[in-house]
Amino acid sequence: MCGIVGYTGFGQAKNVLIDGLKRLEYRGYDSAGIALERQSASATELDVHRRVGKVAGLESELEHVDTASTCGIGHTRWATHGRPSVTNAHPHTSCDGRIAVVHNGIIENFAELREELERRGHRFTSDTDTEVFAHLIEEAYEGRPADPATGEPAQPGSHDLMAAVREATTHVVGAYGLAALCADEPGVIAVARKDSPIIIGRGEDGSYVASDVIAVIDATRDVVVLEDGQFARLTPEGISYTDAEGTAIEPAITHIDWDIDMAEKGGYPDFMLKEIHEQPRVVRDTLVGRMIGGELDIDELGLTYEELNLIDRVYVIACGTSYHAGLIAKNLIEMWARIPCEVEAASEFRYRNPIITPSTLVVAVSQSGETADTLAAIRDARIKGAKVFGITNVVGSPVARESDGVIYTKANKEIAVASTKSFIGQVVSLTLLSLLLAQVKGKLTTGQVRMLFRELGDTAEQIQWIFDTQAEAVHEAALACKDAHSALFVGRGMGAAIAHEGALKLKEISYLHAEAYAAGEMKHGPIALIDPGFPVIAVTTKSPTYDKTVSNLKECEARGAKIIVVATEGDEDIKQIADHVIYIPPVRDAFCPITATVPLQLLAREVAIMRDCDVDQPRNLAKSVTVE
Ligand code: F6R
Repeated sequence: MCGIVGYTGFGQAKNVLIDGLKRLEYRGYDSAGIALERQSASATELDVHRRVGKVAGLESELEHVDTASTCGIGHTRWATHGRPSVTNAHPHTSCDGRIAVVHNGIIENFAELREELERRGHRFTSDTDTEVFAHLIEEAYEGRPADPATGEPAQPGSHDLMAAVREATTHVVGAYGLAALCADEPGVIAVARKDSPIIIGRGEDGSYVASDVIAVIDATRDVVVLEDGQFARLTPEGISYTDAEGTAIEPAITHIDWDIDMAEKGGYPDFMLKEIHEQPRVVRDTLVGRMIGGELDIDELGLTYEELNLIDRVYVIACGTSYHAGLIAKNLIEMWARIPCEVEAASEFRYRNPIITPSTLVVAVSQSGETADTLAAIRDARIKGAKVFGITNVVGSPVARESDGVIYTKANKEIAVASTKSFIGQVVSLTLLSLLLAQVKGKLTTGQVRMLFRELGDTAEQIQWIFDTQAEAVHEAALACKDAHSALFVGRGMGAAIAHEGALKLKEISYLHAEAYAAGEMKHGPIALIDPGFPVIAVTTKSPTYDKTVSNLKECEARGAKIIVVATEGDEDIKQIADHVIYIPPVRDAFCPITATVPLQLLAREVAIMRDCDVDQPRNLAKSVTVE
């Protein structure tokens, strides 16, 4: 949520910041701003430019701002405290305007801190929690006046930006990725991190900080992923790192091996379509190196086969689309490994008292690897003694670092806010985990696992077949939905899990209300919604429950619903009840989610475009949700 970029060097800062913010915009896009150092005849000043709306608006506002500034910080915001407005946009400044900060995260004790600071004479201009940081740093830098209410005496300032940032963080409870400038220390950016990602990089023409490597990938591929409690001081000439006590440290360098092409649209009209089309590659890449000498191999799990064999309960915890991947995993783990498996929204899991023992496996699924609720659930589960596996798309992310073992989904950077290719990577990874558990538990032979692994790999070509043959069918189905006020998605078994993901995709990018139900539940309530022309979108692929789902659709048809189905190629009978059919190739029910989800992703995108919605950056959403 929100994006941070900062640069100090020998090039023009404005351009570096705007380019970085455009790349980060997928993380939040309700307002944006930058602070730049400006050299006047006698001193350095900070110029702050902020605007509501997307980065393009800020860019055009700055088009005629001719600045030679070589140092600045920028931010793109997803509002948490305070509505989107110019005054709530970052950067925020101290009373005298000589300190500017950008911040991701949340300051839990901001109300108390603000009250104290106001009592000591600080004036606030925004409703944000972040502004507290600007004033705390100001006090630590300039000195703190006596507090008449508490009787605390005045304290001298450090007149050292890095020390002032360190001191400010000691007062803050919450999460922060922070970058600060001070007009009295030209060329210096001070950076702090706790529970909100920050990466630091050194390029040929200067030093960079960002909340995501995508903002700096043009400048450098070797970055430091700052750890909680670490600080960095950037200057044009270099970067130094310290811990909370101010002792120098030397953090490890991480090499980024993905290409900048992944952050461009590559000829597609939007990132979402590009990412949907990458899914065959994601399937292949996620499977590379997993079958060694005829044996399934997932050595990053961090548990021996003996330890895996002891697992007697699995929880999958996740949010949103990742939660839907969990619904699919539940079916697979229980079917193949015969281990009881529950799927739970991380935001619920962390606030109840789930039954966890040392033989419980918690599988945390998160594309971004930063989702606050998922991280909190991981921590809670580990305290209670569970083993935790992370499934994430982001190398070195908090989910990866805080789990006992991790499987990376190999989707590569996902930019569209609605998750598509990451979901497919998650489902493939969870399928591998389910096969491994089944093999270890002796519920499937190695021969069976090999056969299923081969079939799993075939889904890559099956997805490609959908792109090659079903575009027209998807378009027709989208025309049938675009003017609806609401839609129902139904299916049974795997089909129900897919329906949930289809409904989420449609509502989040087209703003068309959609719900998903297990098809058998229709007559227990939702069927009351159906009137002539109401779209019912069904996953009706060949499976053991095919006939039952068809019967449920007949009940909808009888009440005038417009029936759209995802069906198995060759199923001509379905046309008797369906108004629109989108086919997928014949596939084993266990692997159906990998293919049958794809037409629903395409459908949601087409409907969104027909309704004139921004498919890559839907309103009110952000790519990673780092607050509860
Ligand atoms: C929907 C979507 C969200 C995320 C959810 C969890 O398309 O992307 O529902 O799936 O916010 O995010 P991660 O997977 O990053 O934990």
